[in-house]
Amino acid sequence: MYLKHISVTNFKNLTQVDAYFSPVLNCFVGDNGEGKTNLLDTIYYLSMCKSYFLTSDIQNIRNTEPFFLLKGDYNRNDVDEQISCGMKRTGGKSFKRNGKEYNRLSEHIGFIPLVMITPSDTSLINDRGEERRKYINTVISQIDKEYLDSLMRYNHALQQRNKLLKNKDADYELISVLNMQLAEYGRIIYNKRAELVEHLTPVFQQIYDAVSRSKEKVLLAYKSDMEYGDLKMLLEHNYDKDRLLQYTSVGIHRDDLDMQLDGRPIRKTGSQGQQKTYLVALKIAQFHIIKQNMGIAPILLLDDIFDKLDPGRVEMLIKLVVGNGFGQIFLTDSNKQRLDHLLERIVGDYYLFTVKNGEITALNSSHATQ
Ligand SMILES: Nc1ncnc2c1ncn2[C@@H]1O[C@H](COP(=O)(O)OP(=O)(O)O)[C@@H](O)[C@H]1O
Ligand SMILES: [Mg+2]
Repeated sequence: MYLKHISVTNFKNLTQVDAYFSPVLNCFVGDNGEGKTNLLDTIYYLSMCKSYFLTSDIQNIRNTEPFFLLKGDYNRNDVDEQISCGMKRTGGKSFKRNGKEYNRLSEHIGFIPLVMITPSDTSLINDRGEERRKYINTVISQIDKEYLDSLMRYNHALQQRNKLLKNKDADYELISVLNMQLAEYGRIIYNKRAELVEHLTPVFQQIYDAVSRSKEKVLLAYKSDMEYGDLKMLLEHNYDKDRLLQYTSVGIHRDDLDMQLDGRPIRKTGSQGQQKTYLVALKIAQFHIIKQNMGIAPILLLDDIFDKLDPGRVEMLIKLVVGNGFGQIFLTDSNKQRLDHLLERIVGDYYLFTVKNGEITALNSSHATQ
């Protein structure tokens, strides 16, 4: 599966882009702030129905323009597919496949599988558990249609329960019904999360060892209140405490991932390079899990991944990625020399583009932009 062509109008600093891509490797070089990450974000958007970075859709619209428009032409299992998204400043987002509007965005997620690696992934290590839960959700929702549905139902029940906990006259009968709902959806979510991490971990460890040449020992583990028993029982057990706190203190909304390096939290002990290796290995493992599950190699977006890695690790990473069952790759680098050096060693089809002030120019393929 690959993206053949993209057209972008007014997305962040990209006023107008019209580009044709290689099915294998596409490289974008340019200084900081020119629009490389924004371009990858448009490709992410067409798969995930939202920006990788911004939670407010309107901020993706260029300056004071009234709308943005993205159109991607794909080859998916040898069938042509056009995905488009328009967003108006006045609100209203329209997401279409072959000209037909989706009823719900969740129907589209997973149709064009994709994995993105960016420098801002360090928030997965440094920020609160919520970031790591969001990450798990993004991975599973691409491969499992039921997951998002259970998650939305769980969150709805959780909101209602928290509201009742703030109300002194609340009826315990209602709380009890919500406990049952939370336990039911919580179980589904817990099982799927546990299964994901179980599949992810050995692949992740293998990749980390290869890239770091086994210098450190890493661990990735799923942590959940539900390890300690049935959620209905836990909710009942914690009811008095929850009343005092006025919120629900146990459940899968408190799940987390334990990320360790040599037996200690990587947040505390890992160098920038080690943390980056950890995240890249995790995301590449994610790539393999999605590919295994869907039988399609996801599009891989590699934003500035070589920065802060020593040349040995860069070398291993490239060997690991290029030509190893990966599908289409989009790669950015602000260092032209490093990129040239790297491309010298890659034989095969690749397109090279420069990005300057929101404009994309093809350097080695006359037909790649118009
Ligand atoms: N809504 C927007 N309208 C216009 N420009 C924007 C908007 N959002 C971000 N930008 C600009 O995009 C640029 C950053 O582009 P980015 O893709 O992150 O650069 P890089 O090439 O370093 O990856 C910044 O100059 C920022 O001002
Ligand atoms: Mg960038």
